[in-house]
Amino acid sequence: MSDLLAPGEARQLGQNERYDTVAARNSRFAAGEMITVRVRRSDAASIAEFRVPYRKWMRVLDALNWIAENQATDLAYRWFCGSKMCGTCAVRMNGREVLACWEAVEPDMTVEPLRNLPVIRDLVVDRAPFERKVAELEPWLERPVAYAGFPEPLTHKQMKNASKALDCIGCMCCYSACPVIGLGDLTDFAGPAPLVQLGQTALDPRNDAAKVSRSLKLTGIFNCVSCYKCEEVCPASIPIVSQVIEPLKARAVALMPEMAKHSNALRSVVAERGYVDPSALVLRVRGLKALSNLPRVLRLLIRGKINPIKTFLQRRTAASDAARQYLSRGDRP
Ligand code: SF4
Ligand code: SF4
Ligand code: FES
Repeated sequence: MSDLLAPGEARQLGQNERYDTVAARNSRFAAGEMITVRVRRSDAASIAEFRVPYRKWMRVLDALNWIAENQATDLAYRWFCGSKMCGTCAVRMNGREVLACWEAVEPDMTVEPLRNLPVIRDLVVDRAPFERKVAELEPWLERPVAYAGFPEPLTHKQMKNASKALDCIGCMCCYSACPVIGLGDLTDFAGPAPLVQLGQTALDPRNDAAKVSRSLKLTGIFNCVSCYKCEEVCPASIPIVSQVIEPLKARAVALMPEMAKHSNALRSVVAERGYVDPSALVLRVRGLKALSNLPRVLRLLIRGKINPIKTFLQRRTAASDAARQYLSRGDRP
C-alpha cells in the first residue's frame, strides 16, 4: 500500500493536528494504559523501545523520568525547571522539536536528540557551537551617547522587535529545525538562535550602529531562506523571521549595502523583468566568474534551469510594472 495521503486525507490530518491540543491528547488515554516510547540511544546507535504506563497529564519528560527510574537508569537527558522557563529539555518527538516538560505524550512516540548539534550522550546535545557563536557576536549594548538617565525616552514601537527577542529561553529548537544550519560548513550562517540573541540588543535603538555592523558582519544572515521552520517550532512563540531576522536583514542593508548584494540583485532583476531570472541573478552577483564552471553551466542548460536567450534579450513581463511600483513603496514591511 502506498504511504502517500489522498488530498482529502491530508487536509483532514492538518485539521486533526490543529485541534490536537494537550488536553485532547490526554483525553485519549486512561490511567495505566501502556504507551510505546522509543528513544534514540547513542551507545548502541539504535532506538530502544519502552512500554510506559500512562498517568494523567503525562508529558514527554514524565515518560523519560519513568524510563530512567524503572527501565534504563543510565538514560541521559536534560531538564531543570520543568515549566518552560530554562530551555534545557528540548528534544525531537516524532520528528518535531518540542520541550519535553511541556509536550503531552503520544500513544506511540519516538524521542530523539536535537539536530545540528553534536550529541554528548543519548538525548543530551553539546550547546558549545551555539554558545561560541553568541560570544563571537557580542550581543550587548554599546551606547554612542551617554546614558540619558531614568526613565529613558523609549517608545513601545522602538522596542517592539527587541522585546520579542527577549522572550527567548535558549532551547535551540529553532537551531535544530533550520535547514540552512543543516548544510554545515557550506554556509557561514549563524542560525536562528544566535540571531535571536543578537536581536535583543542589535534591534535596540540605543545601540551604536558601528557595533551592530560589526556583529551583523559575522552572521551570514542573508543565507537565511525565510522558510519559517524555526518559527513553527519555537515554544516561546517568538516571530523569529518577521520580527527578528527580517528587521536584522533590513538593518544590515541600511548599514552595509554590500552585505545584501544577492538580495539587491534579486530585487532589481524582479523589478526590471517581472520574474526571477536565475542566470541574470547569478551574473549580477558573481559577474563573468559565474561562467568559469562550464560543466555546471551546461548541466543547468540541459535541465532547462537557465535560458540565455531570455536573459540576454532581457525579456520582461507585465508583472515588472507592479513589481517596480511595490519595491519603490516606502512603507514596505
Ligand atoms: S527562516 Fe531562516 S533561520 Fe529560520 S529555519 Fe528557515 S533558514 Fe533557518
Ligand atoms: S528563539 Fe525560540 S526556539 Fe529558538 S532558542 Fe529561543 S525560544 Fe528556543
Ligand atoms: S525543563 Fe526547563 S524548559 Fe523544560
